[in-house]
Amino acid sequence: MCGIIGYVGQATSSRPLEVARQALARLQYRGYDSAGIVVANQEGLSFVKRAGKLSALEEALAESPLPAASAAIGHTRWATHGGPTDQNAHPHLSQDGSVAVVHNGILENHQALRDELVEAGVEFQSQTDTEVAAHLLARAYQELGDLPDAMRATARRLEGAFTLLAVAQDNPHLVVGARRTSPLVVGLGEGENFLGSDVAAFVACTDQALELGQDQVVTITPDAVAVTDFGGNAIEPRRFTIDWDASAAVKGGFETFMDKEIHDQPDAVRDTLLGRMTPSGQMQLDELRVDEALLRSVDKIVVIACGTAAYAGHVAKYAIEHWCRIPVEVELAHEFRYRDPVVTAKTLVVAISQSGETMDTIMAIRHAREQGAKVVAVVNTMGSTIARESDAALYTHAGPEVAVASTKAFLAQITATYLLGLYLGQLRGTMFPDEIRAILSELEKMPDRIRQVIEGEDVIRQLAVQMKDATSVLFLGRHVGYPVAMEGALKLKELAYIHAEGFAAGELKHGPIALIDEGQPVFVVVPSPRGRDILHDKVLSNIQEVRARGARTLVVAEEGDNAVREFAEQIFWVPQAPTLLAPLVAVVPLQIFACALASAKGLDVDQPRNLAKSVTVE
Ligand code: F6R
Repeated sequence: MCGIIGYVGQATSSRPLEVARQALARLQYRGYDSAGIVVANQEGLSFVKRAGKLSALEEALAESPLPAASAAIGHTRWATHGGPTDQNAHPHLSQDGSVAVVHNGILENHQALRDELVEAGVEFQSQTDTEVAAHLLARAYQELGDLPDAMRATARRLEGAFTLLAVAQDNPHLVVGARRTSPLVVGLGEGENFLGSDVAAFVACTDQALELGQDQVVTITPDAVAVTDFGGNAIEPRRFTIDWDASAAVKGGFETFMDKEIHDQPDAVRDTLLGRMTPSGQMQLDELRVDEALLRSVDKIVVIACGTAAYAGHVAKYAIEHWCRIPVEVELAHEFRYRDPVVTAKTLVVAISQSGETMDTIMAIRHAREQGAKVVAVVNTMGSTIARESDAALYTHAGPEVAVASTKAFLAQITATYLLGLYLGQLRGTMFPDEIRAILSELEKMPDRIRQVIEGEDVIRQLAVQMKDATSVLFLGRHVGYPVAMEGALKLKELAYIHAEGFAAGELKHGPIALIDEGQPVFVVVPSPRGRDILHDKVLSNIQEVRARGARTLVVAEEGDNAVREFAEQIFWVPQAPTLLAPLVAVVPLQIFACALASAKGLDVDQPRNLAKSVTVE
């Protein structure tokens, strides 16, 4: 969590401050407990920091503007150690004011270091773990006289996960960064350079970037970038081009990012499909650098992910098992990591992540690779840790997702895992070429079908407004409708702070049905009647079971499914789609419902309480 920006340019101007302000606006999804910026010029360091959202920092900057400068570092915080106060906001300065630092991560040995520094006479100003790094860095700088050397010496003393950026009072043309486990990427400009937690920080200024690896220190000046390990050995970082459209990270006329991102979904699915099929109709996944012989011999797939990304994994399980006849397990990354899972060289691990920085997923990937498994990442953020640490990355092309609750990334993740399934089906010969072509051609129709659901959003929005005082909502689904139900419940919990649960419809009679009382709202995701009859009929029986006990039934059903009419109080029609692809349309009314209900309650849908978009702590 926490968003970080660093900037250095040739001239002394307002640009460092502007770059930092804009970057923090783009990075706010990583944390919004406080924000701060420090700028460096010939006179030294000047900073402003405030608890609360970025608007509080903006107000403070309006009252006391920061001077023209040549470098800046900025931070938006998701609090871990120390509450969200002005004092605990970053940047943190050393006692002598010689250096300022911002930090993302957790310094696990901060207490021991703090004790040592207090013993040596340092007076702490905050309750954060970060402040120890400022004091250690200043001492090392005094001793070594070189900021990069001092950063390496400091980094060697720190335990835990960290990205640290620092500027020094006496060198306004230098920003130094260190990373261990927490994310940091470099942006390359003309006569200026950038550091950011992710490329969203500087995508408006440059599309050229460098990946940084584990335990590296980077030094940026206006004209140069130098990377070393913590021991000072030079490293050649990998360069890449960012293919995100910078305008995708602005609201573009919508009231919230979430509204916009729901509307972006047809494009997210279309862009994820682009270029994955040859003119002769063969699947091609160029990024899949895992040996084909190995992919043919895989005897199990394990999908690891968290939250919404894990629900995308559940959808993938149904599709990949059906198409490829390989057993697929889906596991929450944090459970996988600490369980002692059976993973061999014949296991293919698929890690799904929008941010590419989810610490639970990173740790699970490392664990899987240590056991000899190959890892394919389905990931949205280029240059992210998960993309870099996996054997291959299959990128989703959802573009930057800014709202904390995931929408378009979810649809893009499902789409990418379908592509992976079809590719494996082709490679392993479990599918006929014409079968694959037929599914790809259905997939190509999905963006229009999603658009159709979005066009009908008014009905869902009206229902959401009527239901704004609901205290509990249940969601039921079977087969691929089950992960859709769980995702619908998660969206409602995180956006509208309403108790919501998603169940497998068949599980109802094993306990949850006791929750049904007069007027209890229950959303039911009904499978296509054109798919397996038995699935459809069973879900209709489930609707009747809850209705008989007084539930208010709100049904997501396929157009033309007249059989549902008599059991549903309200129906949200979605266009016809093959059973396995239906989650791409069925989840959309549930996203719109949660977003509209939260807005009707006056809540901040883009930045729900207690959450951050990238969960970079375990
Ligand atoms: C919910 C949501 C989270 C994320 C989860 C994983 O709306 O966004 O549940 O899906 O934290 O994040 P990534 O995909 O970045 O690994």
